[in-house]
This record gives sequence, C-alpha cells and structure tokens, in this order.
Amino acid sequence: MTSKQLEESTAYLKNKGFDTPEIGIVLGTGLGKLVEEIEDPIEAHYNHIPYFPLATVEFHTGKLIYGTLGGKKVVVMQGRFHLYEGYDLTDVTYPIRVMHQLGIQKLFISNAAGAINLNFKKGDMMLIKDHINLQGGSPLAFKNVAEFGDRFVDMGEPYDLAMGNKLVRIAERENISLKQGIYASVVGPQLETKAEYRMLKIIGADAVGMSTVPEVIVANHLRLPIIAVSVLTDECDPDNLQPVNIAEIIEIAGKTEPKMIKLFKELIKEI
Ligand code: HPA
Repeated sequence: MTSKQLEESTAYLKNKGFDTPEIGIVLGTGLGKLVEEIEDPIEAHYNHIPYFPLATVEFHTGKLIYGTLGGKKVVVMQGRFHLYEGYDLTDVTYPIRVMHQLGIQKLFISNAAGAINLNFKKGDMMLIKDHINLQGGSPLAFKNVAEFGDRFVDMGEPYDLAMGNKLVRIAERENISLKQGIYASVVGPQLETKAEYRMLKIIGADAVGMSTVPEVIVANHLRLPIIAVSVLTDECDPDNLQPVNIAEIIEIAGKTEPKMIKLFKELIKEI
C-alpha cells in the first residue's frame, strides 16, 4: 500500500460524488439492508475502485454506497473483506483508510458472531467493549507504516466510550436489548472446536467472529472514534454443540437487522 494508491482510490470516489462523508459504516454478514434506507445513494462497486482488493466471486456484490442517513452524509461498506478469503490484513483494512481519506470522522462496524457467553442468546446484539486479537497478525505490521501514522498504537481504549454510552441509552429508550462484552477475532473460515470454545470462554471472550478487529486496529491508527456491534447468530456451548448451520446464521442476522438499523440510525441523528 502506498499513499499514492490511497489518493487514487479516494479521487475516484470523490469524482463519483462521494463528497466529505461524516460517518463510515461497515455492514457485516447478513446485515446489508441498512443501505435501503440511504437517501440519494451513489454506488461504487469494489471491483471498479482503483487499488481496492479484487472481490472474490462470492463477494462480487460488494460495494461502497454514499448518501444521506439520519440527516448526515454517510459512506457504507456493503460487504467486507475477510482474512479467510485469502486477503492479507492490509487488504482487509484498505477500505477503512479510504473512508478516512474521504473525510469520515466516525466509524460504525457491525458483524455476525457466535455467543461464547451463554447468558447471551442468538438474536441478541452486543456492543463490543474490548477485543482479543486471535488472528495471528496486525494490519500495522508493514514496512512503511510510519508514513500513515504511529507504529506503536495505544489500544487501551479502542472503542469510543461516549458513542458507546449513547448507543446504550438509545437501546434502553427504544426497548432494544443490547448486551455488552468482549469480542475475540479468529481467522476462520472453519468454526471452532469444542476445546477452542472452552478456551475462548476461559480467556474472557463473550463472542467470537472472523472480522472487525483488523478494522478497529486501523481505525485506532487513524485516531478515528469507533463503535462496533455484534449480532449474535449462534450459541457456542461446548457441552451442547449443534452442527454449524450457515443458512440459520444468515437468517438470524437478517431477523435482528431491523433493530441494528434502528440503533445505528438513532446514533447518527444524535452525534
Ligand atoms: N465462530 C466464529 N465466527 C462466527 C461464529 C462462530 O461461532 N458465528 C458467527 N460467526
């Protein structure tokens, strides 16, 4: 990655009308419907944006959408890049740097995740308070990182407290259940073994998924305030483990999605 590439990606989008968005939003698996609420949308397919990672067949629908949501200019990633698709960590986080270059001041992230904390049930949402990086690498571990920011980034408070608290209050007001907890990121794409689920619980994870943490690290590199919400799509009980059902995971994400959209929209209005 070079700053020239970033500039070219950004220039392409500006030229299409992506004019100074305030908020960036990353939509997780099964959580794409928020884009239907965007007014006056402009779309850019990932495959058309210079230097964007080339989308896989599975993700040929991936696109950036710019428009107005909750009265503010937003840029939304419908579909993200995952390590398990064969991308590296700089690819996975490249769109975050582009959105930052476009001018976003805040970032919202969503994902589908498994519940490790068995007090949480499928269909619950969880505000991520902290995370554990189990992906075996860092999106900041590259030679010319100093061109883009600090090398040794503080991760003592990676998620923005003020926005998180606001989201909790919105959830209370709207009667939407919002848990809070710690998200562990794994590479995937295989799901975890029973022994791994037990380990995740012991080390303090409340949820596990295959994304988000690289994007959060890069957002911190860019000093971009962020919040992240997991939609819990399955219960990872090692003593009663059900065979993985991806169709069900996507169905549960889809059923929970309207509540997530409500939370994000209200938060946009209030910040
Ligand atoms: N493990 C990892 N990623 C996931 C899971 C899980 O159980 N559920 C949804 N994404």
